[in-house]
Amino acid sequence: MHVSELDTPAVVIDLGILEENLAEMAAYCAGHGIALRPHAKTHKIPAIARMQIDRGACGITVAKLGEAEVMADAGLGDILIAYPIVGARKLERLVGLARRARVTVSTDSADVARAISDTAGQAGVKIGLLAEMDAGLRRCGVQSPDELVTLALEMAHLAHAEFLGFLVFPGHVRVHPDLQPPVLKEIDARLEEAQDRLFRSGVEVRVVSGGSTPTACRSHLMKTVTEIRPGTYVFNDMNTVAMGAADLSRCAVTVHVTVVSVAVKGRAVIDGGSKTFSSDLSRGGEGRGFGFCLEHEDVVLESMSEEHGHLNIESSSASLRIGDRLRFVPNHVCTTVNMHDEVWGVRGEEVVERWEVLGRGLVR
Ligand SMILES: Cc1ncc(COP(=O)(O)O)c(C=O)c1O
Repeated sequence: MHVSELDTPAVVIDLGILEENLAEMAAYCAGHGIALRPHAKTHKIPAIARMQIDRGACGITVAKLGEAEVMADAGLGDILIAYPIVGARKLERLVGLARRARVTVSTDSADVARAISDTAGQAGVKIGLLAEMDAGLRRCGVQSPDELVTLALEMAHLAHAEFLGFLVFPGHVRVHPDLQPPVLKEIDARLEEAQDRLFRSGVEVRVVSGGSTPTACRSHLMKTVTEIRPGTYVFNDMNTVAMGAADLSRCAVTVHVTVVSVAVKGRAVIDGGSKTFSSDLSRGGEGRGFGFCLEHEDVVLESMSEEHGHLNIESSSASLRIGDRLRFVPNHVCTTVNMHDEVWGVRGEEVVERWEVLGRGLVR
């Protein structure tokens, strides 16, 4: 099928660009002796996780148990849930998962770790643990090397869970890679201090899991880091471009839409709104709207309602007509893909793949 025959709105993946992105990250990690454990939250598609493993990834990362279950169902065998598992229902599912895959969980809480260990003991399974330190995002994570050492020691003494090491997410680092070294080295110094102190207490830190897409290619500057978890790099998006971590030519996903109204001068409406793109704003700070139009740079996707995308074409030379098709690179591809049941893979203009987004909406 020709790509123009796809009904819109449609999320389209350029498979050539996807493969380039996968190969480049795999080569970087192999070149620096860093393990790659990509975050599957970006694509939520087991077939793409499999492509990552086939290119050398040591396993995958997910945020939610539901995503982990979908990946395990598809035969992915080594899964890090970079999210605390809290509550009896989830603990039950966690041990079910650990019966069919190697599972590791990160947490900043000794109580959460103890509950995991106790449940694992009752079920006769083994679950890995990573102690999370906040790199600066102010989400989860203990705040200091002191707290990290205390948490790690508690984890290391649990009977039925295996303490593996540390997890950090440098998600607050949103500057160009050239400007990242000082902040990455400061995080590394904190990790190193905790690692040294644990070593002196006889506790080995075997894994230090870090990384994000913007910082991925500077991960070798963090000497403690043994693996990285970039997710967005598979597709990239306008936020990655704005941070200087990828070129527009390396954005694999476009949202194909159709112009459905041109009734008002200077404006046009497309058949995708916040339920197609998600409402995530550009982090580039240029106020360029909710995506980048590949056909007409000066067409601005200025605002959205649920099903309508409002284009400002006042200063554009584009003369849009009803039925015209446009392609937009989304601001935040992870939330865009999560809006869709299916995505399409193309080679050139030919549609050659249809993938169900099996992990979409699995928030539990
Ligand atoms: C814990 C964790 N690790 C890795 C990632 C991947 O980062 P990125 O989206 O920059 O690729 C995320 C993204 O939210 C995350 O939350």
